[in-house]
Amino acid sequence: MVTVIFPAAGKGSRMQAGMNKVFMPLDGVPILIRSLLQYSGCSEIDQMVVVVAAAEVDFVKALLSKVQGLKPYNVVAGGSERQYSVLNGIKSVHGCDDDIILVHDAARPLISPETITAVIDGAKKYGGVIAAVAAKNTIKVCDGEGVVKETPDRSALWEIQTPQGFTRKILLEANDRAQADGFLGTDDASLVERIGHPVHIVKSDYRNIKITTPEDIIVGEAFIKSQEQSRLIEKNKRIMVEINDLIKDCWQ
Ligand code: CTP
Ligand code: MG
Repeated sequence: MVTVIFPAAGKGSRMQAGMNKVFMPLDGVPILIRSLLQYSGCSEIDQMVVVVAAAEVDFVKALLSKVQGLKPYNVVAGGSERQYSVLNGIKSVHGCDDDIILVHDAARPLISPETITAVIDGAKKYGGVIAAVAAKNTIKVCDGEGVVKETPDRSALWEIQTPQGFTRKILLEANDRAQADGFLGTDDASLVERIGHPVHIVKSDYRNIKITTPEDIIVGEAFIKSQEQSRLIEKNKRIMVEINDLIKDCWQ
């Protein structure tokens, strides 16, 4: 059984759009719906958990009921931090120790089928894997005054994306331990690393950006226009006018 948890319960404050960015259209299709359709097109995926703000649960259920071809899904309420949202998602997933759980930022709608498959295969093999690309820029470590303290060797640096994939047992144990210790990480793998379980990287691609600030919309739409759209996205294009109207009404 392979389950994908989509944290989508953020505020999108850096986007400054006056709404949760995952509802913004990217080339006409809301970011959250693009992410769900990308995964729904993958035969390896069995079910999805969409984690949204408590106040948005009913609205998202109504929106998703209009979309065709989604894998079986559940919508659950998130928390004040991404980690708590993911935890609520994990708690809603029942199954066996060696089932695979992927965590994917709803704000990364440009995920490729190849990376999804590679992360699932890697999670089955290693128990914990994360999508990554080689750092393109030189990265410096600075102190609080902005003085450079260190220049790590770039060839050892990787920018980490989602999906991050784990066996259910490892992800549950890592989250339980983080909760017990009051540890808050910036990604899912950091919780797994601190319980001593090795996490492997899986090479992804530079298109799998997280839509975070307004310029990411321009870049994301350019990527979309440069490639063929999936069959599921094409199939749902017509219903998007209605869906975007519902979203506009809700946020006005
Ligand atoms: N997320 C979540 N619950 C939170 C915070 C974030 O489920 N309490 C989700 C976001 O919806 C997003 C993903 O985690 O899909 C990655 O987070 P980020 O890009 O930081 O999104 P936001 O937190 O919404 O944006 P910002 O930090 O600019 O407010
Ligand atoms: Mg955030």
